Amino acid sequence: MTSGRIRWAQLPEAVRGAVGERLGASFTARDTEHSAAAGIASLLELESGALVFVKGQRERVPAPGAVLEEDDSWWGPGWSPVDELDLEEAVNPHLPPSAPRVLWRLDGNGWHLLAFEGVAGREADFVPGSPDLAPVCAALAELAPLPAPPGVRLPTAWDRWGYYCADGDRELLAGSRLLHTDPASTNVLVEDGGRACLVDWSWATVGPAWIDTALWGMRLVSTGGHSPEQAWQWAARVPGWTVADPKAVAVLARAEARRWHDLAAEQKATADSIARSADEWAAFITTRNRI
Ligand SMILES: Nc1ncnc2c1ncn2[C@@H]1O[C@H](COP(=O)(O)OP(=O)(O)O)[C@@H](O)[C@H]1O
Ligand SMILES: [Mg+2]
Repeated sequence: MTSGRIRWAQLPEAVRGAVGERLGASFTARDTEHSAAAGIASLLELESGALVFVKGQRERVPAPGAVLEEDDSWWGPGWSPVDELDLEEAVNPHLPPSAPRVLWRLDGNGWHLLAFEGVAGREADFVPGSPDLAPVCAALAELAPLPAPPGVRLPTAWDRWGYYCADGDRELLAGSRLLHTDPASTNVLVEDGGRACLVDWSWATVGPAWIDTALWGMRLVSTGGHSPEQAWQWAARVPGWTVADPKAVAVLARAEARRWHDLAAEQKATADSIARSADEWAAFITTRNRI
């Protein structure tokens, strides 16, 4: 269980009580295992069998004497995990049909909670031959044509990866589509019926659709153990991949690899091996695209 993350039972009684009141039914809570950033992430099963997924962050409490930063630069000094929760709530109505919808929000007693439709299923398996790979392709294909929602402030792909690119590359990452940008197997749930749905939209971004396919390709290599060639074959099944600008794809893949090396330098768990896979994927794309 990552630091900062707590179990349902550790939530203040007042918070758990408020949720019980909001649900109007008794429930059992199961803490999800793979939560990367949430303060709390639990799946609640009501006596009716209905599932509600609750994700939350502690209220921002400025250090004594410190003022809450007004700057709203992405991930700047004023950025907090609550901003990620707010972004996830704001983008939710605009997500692909398969993505779980926000049911309600509760703020108070030191916590901000978002409740989502609970998905009855399991995290996707990315290994070669997995029956989940085609449904994930379908989920990315469902997302690809969606425009970034007007009226929702989202980071651009350049805000996310510009730091790891050459100045002249800005245009290569320009685009107006809604992106997920964290297609890790822990953020893809396969429903009992076999459909895959993308969860955890706290990093929603605006840019060209092929970016999510490129990031998934990297995860097929890093988490699934695919060869870059095998990962490419799966990526090519997602609409838009084979027509994407080869130079732009190579620039993004290299930028993502650099980002993982930075995370590895910060000793982020598993970042080291992911950084190596990201290098392999970027090198393959660079060679294949003769960039
Ligand atoms: N709607 C949902 N229904 C059921 N389980 C979910 C749902 N959304 C997320 N999960 C599970 O909870 C875990 C943590 O949620 P996630 O939104 O990914 O939080 P974090 O931002 O902390 O990674 C996910 O890895 C997934 O297994
Ligand atoms: Mg997650």
